[in-house]
Amino acid sequence: MGYELLGKIIELSAYNRSLEERFRKVARLTAQELGFDSCIIYGWNREDNTFTKLATSGARKSVINMYGHKEGLCSWVKRNRKTLQIHNPDPRNILWNQIEDRGIKGFKTIVVSPIKDESHLYGVIYLKAGDRLSLAERKKNILNVVARLLCFFIKCDIDYKRLKRTYTKLKEMQARLGNAEKLMALGELSATLAHEIKNPLVSIGGLATRLQKKLSKDSPEYIYVEHIVKEVTKLEDIINDILHFTEDRTLKFTAEKLDSIVEEAIKGFEDICRRNSIKVEKLFSQEPISVIADAGQLKIALDNIIINAIQSMEGGGTLSITTYRRRRWAHVEIKDTGGGIEPHLIGNIFNPFFTTRKGGTGLGLPITHKIVTRHKGHIDVANEYGKGITFTIRLPLTDSQSGGEMK
Ligand SMILES: Nc1ncnc2c1ncn2[C@@H]1O[C@H](COP(=O)(O)OP(=O)(O)O)[C@@H](O)[C@H]1O
Ligand SMILES: [Mg+2]
Repeated sequence: MGYELLGKIIELSAYNRSLEERFRKVARLTAQELGFDSCIIYGWNREDNTFTKLATSGARKSVINMYGHKEGLCSWVKRNRKTLQIHNPDPRNILWNQIEDRGIKGFKTIVVSPIKDESHLYGVIYLKAGDRLSLAERKKNILNVVARLLCFFIKCDIDYKRLKRTYTKLKEMQARLGNAEKLMALGELSATLAHEIKNPLVSIGGLATRLQKKLSKDSPEYIYVEHIVKEVTKLEDIINDILHFTEDRTLKFTAEKLDSIVEEAIKGFEDICRRNSIKVEKLFSQEPISVIADAGQLKIALDNIIINAIQSMEGGGTLSITTYRRRRWAHVEIKDTGGGIEPHLIGNIFNPFFTTRKGGTGLGLPITHKIVTRHKGHIDVANEYGKGITFTIRLPLTDSQSGGEMK
């Protein structure tokens, strides 16, 4: 009566195999039960609007692997959302009702049934027989139930895959959260240490400078003291970076011309670029760009990216700085030809203390990120390993420039 077939198909739902394997079994069982020579199951692919073959059973002739959304009998079933049953008097025929389908060649009876629910089509079951068959009401009902069960399998599979993706994301987030907690603790610890170290360091630096002034340049001690002064300056820079990163100073926002801030930042590096054979290309926007910014802070954010770019181009290169307006955003693009960074490391570059440079603090980019975020902006990075990196800072335009649409 067909119950056995349905029972076997239902058993497959607990079957721990791929969807394709389950479909192969369903195709075989359905063709057998309903007396067809061939059963093909097609899945509807929403991304590229095609029906693709998922499983075949029985006769292999005239099996089409894929139908476009306007091709073959599948397209008729897609449009009408109901079972199509046709009899092909001449098996050499590939036309039915002006629809061309090479899949029907060599068969006299063809039944195509939709795999669907109330709102979506998920595919079709395509049955073919070399003889003339008529599908009795009972068999039609069985076919409908089979289609329903296939729809259930497909939906479960979609949900399962979605769940798996969410689970992976959740795991990643959990790992990142663990990392963030560690970084926060590390940040607090470094802030405390930086505060403790700063004052004694300033007095060591001050005293050493005074001593240096007292010594004659020819005395052997002069070199020692000079070294102390130099190292203290380096340490002071690190301490300032840490304090800058950890403290939350209030920003003073005013309407500023973006190009002037960028120009000011580049100016500070022109000399060093010249000395290092780095060509500086400025491609500033034709139209003025106005942003609400703390100019001093924004300059620091840009400085950090420019310094990194220069450091990456030891043997020379090109530093391109472009500004432009797009929609509600002001953009600054800073591009270098320093070879970029290994792809597996790119995810770390904004993490505090991540550095691949000898003597680096790993605080330049975190500081930049923090400043840009406090300006309600974003930073995007395009890393072309072997070529270079492009950092793009996006900042909201002032109200007047964005037509009052500022976020
Ligand atoms: N333009 C760049 N080219 C290649 N690598 C870069 C570039 N900018 C940043 N990086 C990578 O990001 C890391 C972190 O940068 P940053 O936070 O400024 O710290 P630091 O410069 O002290 O290392 C660098 O050590 C480097 O590995
Ligand atoms: Mg840096």
